[in-house]
Amino acid sequence: MFEQLKTLPQDPILGLMKTFREDPRTDKVDLGVGVYRDEAGATPIMAAVATAQERLLATETTKAYIGPAGAEGFNRLIGQLLLGGNHPALKDGRVNVVQTPGGCGALRMAAEFLKLCKADTTVWVSTPTWANHIPLLGGAGLSIREYPYLDKATLSVDFDAMMACLEQADAGDVVLLHGCCHNPSGADLDADQWSAITDLVERKGLLPFIDIAYQGLGEGLDQDALGVRLMAERLPEVIVASSCSKNFGLYRERTGALMLISANAQQGLAATSQLLSAIRSHYSMPPSHGAAVVEMILDTPELMQQWQQELGAMCSRILELRAALSQALAPAGDFSFIERQRGMFSFLGISPQQVQILREEFGIYMLDSSRINIAGLSATTLPQVATALQEVLGR
Ligand code: LMR
Repeated sequence: MFEQLKTLPQDPILGLMKTFREDPRTDKVDLGVGVYRDEAGATPIMAAVATAQERLLATETTKAYIGPAGAEGFNRLIGQLLLGGNHPALKDGRVNVVQTPGGCGALRMAAEFLKLCKADTTVWVSTPTWANHIPLLGGAGLSIREYPYLDKATLSVDFDAMMACLEQADAGDVVLLHGCCHNPSGADLDADQWSAITDLVERKGLLPFIDIAYQGLGEGLDQDALGVRLMAERLPEVIVASSCSKNFGLYRERTGALMLISANAQQGLAATSQLLSAIRSHYSMPPSHGAAVVEMILDTPELMQQWQQELGAMCSRILELRAALSQALAPAGDFSFIERQRGMFSFLGISPQQVQILREEFGIYMLDSSRINIAGLSATTLPQVATALQEVLGR
């Protein structure tokens, strides 16, 4: 059975992580995979998470099954985190949230759910988009179409091209949007653009599907959820996939959520029953630990405050690194877009050959597309990266 299988190339992000690990150079710099790092280059467990884990260990009484929807408390609190506590969709009972194995689990189960809604669903994704979006959604059998998102010359959102392309979408098509901190470009929609895309989606009868994996790491928890909140208020149906990997630093615990906003409570119940049945036939139920930690933090005022402070400091540090990198690169050209962009990622806008030189000669790792993880920089490595980049650009 296995003999006809060919070895596949490595995943572009996870493969780079492995190559970096195997590089013996001590001054190597990892700007590849999207994990937050501190000044020392570590990804520590957040203090609020560490405390919640300790309390959980001391108080947890069972490891019995939690069910396909996951923990009810986690789901309720994530709904509030995404929408804000007083959102009309919450008051109207239009919101259902299920806990998922990470943001990937949410994306894949949303795709499975969409297939149940309509077997030949088309989903429009931005070009570029996160490397795993198309495998996750296309792998479930959805048809993928792409809309232009980034102006390559300015590395900012090409909103006119995006809107013109989405005019071609048919009623019932799904549009995947990045809630904040666009991965890989860092170029986000502003409030007016969210409003205009909401108008378009409403007029054409499209279904927005928002992936929000970086809430709190762009500008702040509320600011980053602006698009989600606006669409949930104005539109009858919205799907939201969210992740606790980055903002709670729970990467390996696989903690995420899938939120369905429905036209009314009754339709929401029917939709959720279908989603839960799909979950049961895929992985049965999500892992518990990460979500239990998040629930404890969001439900305990003192831990919530501590977590918000820690997340705020991470967000500020990314903004500072953005400003510092764009200044440090100024002698080599106009890199001011880095300061205007948000979240962990930006493209440097250099060629794959230049990316390769940086990797091989200077031990500086980024994706072939020139996507860098800003949060992988530090006061020590930033000048190192800036100097190497200037040298490569000057050749
Ligand atoms: C990334 O884009 O680097 C992260 O989301 C990690 C991943 O799974 O690709």
